[in-house]
Amino acid sequence: AEPPKKKRFPFLRWARRLTYVYVVGGAVFLAYQIYDLRHPSDQQEPGPDKKTLVVLGSGWGAVSLLKKLDTENYNVVVISPRNFFLFTPLLPSCTTGTIEHRSIMEPLRNILRHKKAAVKFYEAEATKIDHEKKVVHISDDSDIKGDISQTEVPYDMLVVAVGATNATFGIPGVREHSCFLKEVGDAQAIRKKIMDCVETATFKDQSPEEIERLLHMVVVGGGPTGVEFAGELQDFFEEDLKKWIPEITDKFHVTLVEALPNVRNTCWIPEVLGRIADNCFKVLPMFSKTLIDYTEKVFNDEKITVRTKTMVKKVTDKTIEAEVTRPDGSKSLEIMPYGLLVWATGNAIRPVVRDLMSRIPAQKNSRRGLAVNEYLVVDGTENIWALGDCSSTKYAPTAQVASQEGAFLARLFNSMAKTQILEEELNRLSELKVAASDQEEYTRLEAQVQARGKQLGRVKQMGAFEYTHQGSLAYIGSDRAVADISWLNGNFATGGGLTYLFWRSAYLSMCFSTRNRILVVVDWLKAKIFGRDVSRE
Ligand code: FAD
Ligand code: NAI
Repeated sequence: AEPPKKKRFPFLRWARRLTYVYVVGGAVFLAYQIYDLRHPSDQQEPGPDKKTLVVLGSGWGAVSLLKKLDTENYNVVVISPRNFFLFTPLLPSCTTGTIEHRSIMEPLRNILRHKKAAVKFYEAEATKIDHEKKVVHISDDSDIKGDISQTEVPYDMLVVAVGATNATFGIPGVREHSCFLKEVGDAQAIRKKIMDCVETATFKDQSPEEIERLLHMVVVGGGPTGVEFAGELQDFFEEDLKKWIPEITDKFHVTLVEALPNVRNTCWIPEVLGRIADNCFKVLPMFSKTLIDYTEKVFNDEKITVRTKTMVKKVTDKTIEAEVTRPDGSKSLEIMPYGLLVWATGNAIRPVVRDLMSRIPAQKNSRRGLAVNEYLVVDGTENIWALGDCSSTKYAPTAQVASQEGAFLARLFNSMAKTQILEEELNRLSELKVAASDQEEYTRLEAQVQARGKQLGRVKQMGAFEYTHQGSLAYIGSDRAVADISWLNGNFATGGGLTYLFWRSAYLSMCFSTRNRILVVVDWLKAKIFGRDVSRE
């Protein structure tokens, strides 16, 4: 008889079994998530006795609030001109078709339909907030309008989460001639314009100067938006455009123009002020010096021209005029012809917010947005809260801040509702205690009153908003990213290919839903296998 086979590497068998368990478990979990997404349970209708909580916006701040809010405690009304949530960190990838824009949009209806109690949504823009009458004026600005397209919505509590608009500093020609990068429509417009410039440059008998102009892609603003877009655009050229249209190889050119117009605009975050002093007139002012230098080196290798100390003063349909500061401090005016101009110079206050600020004396000195206290209550009001890019706090206007603020407000509103319920219960028990017929009943009610009192104390203990910075991440092109990560009370700065993998997995895990994650992965695979789509829609 053959001797029994020696069992070698038994741990391999276990590893294999464990892998099966993970794979099967993962598949079941995914299937459940998809089923749950497609089969929301019935919702209860909010009661008429509940307070009306109106939320303006459907971005990072508002959606994070809505996700965690117990909607059965309020009559919740959401108002936004956009009926979807947009995952902005991946928006630069939509400008070149690395990701399709619908993959990073999550319909608001999907989000609201999964809440326990029904939430009303109006696709409209808030045009005026009347804080004295406690009403919001809204207007339907979509193409199709019904008989009524303007009305008022009353509120008991109001959350303003309308974000910010694009800063142009009143520079002539910017609004008319450049593309911005904030909304889905902006990314689509840029994608179309890139291909338009390329196709027009290859038009029969085009002059060499005109070809050079049309293929000169200028990005103004060396903050993360400008840097990420420049990186994506150069990737598009290197990996796809020059393969399909080889005649543009030596002429396609990306230039990033950056000038801090003054320290206040980007250097207001107290903890990075020191850093900024070193990094004035550099790209990516929010990152550490090592990463700024690394980014500039990568851009140099990628042949992206970085023009620092260059402040754009005027824009025409074919040129930008910029004031260049030379190393000796002297200044000169330079004219740069361009085919595509992308303007990414940060945030400005939205008109509806500016109007509200102008009517509240306590907001007189606020410049960046609605000044709020540590509970995000708008200064000078009692029942209006503001969060995200439309508010003015000591934090940077980022998605990270807006979503943490939204989650904080949800906890605050949940605990306010709980407080009210507990207080009512406490009053009822106290009355019963006073009317108790015997000692035994009195002792029982006294114990209940004390228990409710303790519970109320715990609920009321909620502290002020505190932001936890998890780090900054940015894609810089050619499969490289930079990351400044908060780690054990310190900072950890890293850049390169591995950071790029980290960037991808971090943003994938942050995508709003399983559906978004699957679509984004499919888009990445599609772009890798077939290349990006160069057709102009
Ligand atoms: P938003 O998310 O802008 O939402 C505002 C909402 O209000 C929108 O739904 C809008 O339609 C709605 N609205 C506008 N006007 C009105 C009105 N009048 N009435 C009612 N509703 C209105 N941050 C990071 O932390 N990490 C990143 O990687 C990152 N990448 C970014 C990439 C790009 C291209 C951009 C543009 C920004 C990026 N940011 C990033 C910044 C981040 O997107 C913002 O800080 C964040 O969106 C702010 O959230 P918010 O809720 O205040 O505003
Ligand atoms: P920004 O405010 O960070 O940078 C704008 C840049 O434009 C500044 O460096 C400024 O000096 C420059 N500028 C202004 N006027 C100019 C002119 N006339 N000529 C030349 N340069 C000029 O703006 P950005 O990049 O749009 O970001 C807005 C917010 O969104 C920031 O808080 C940022 O942190 C956040 N964000 C974060 C990202 C990430 O974490 N990966 C990605 C994109 C945005």
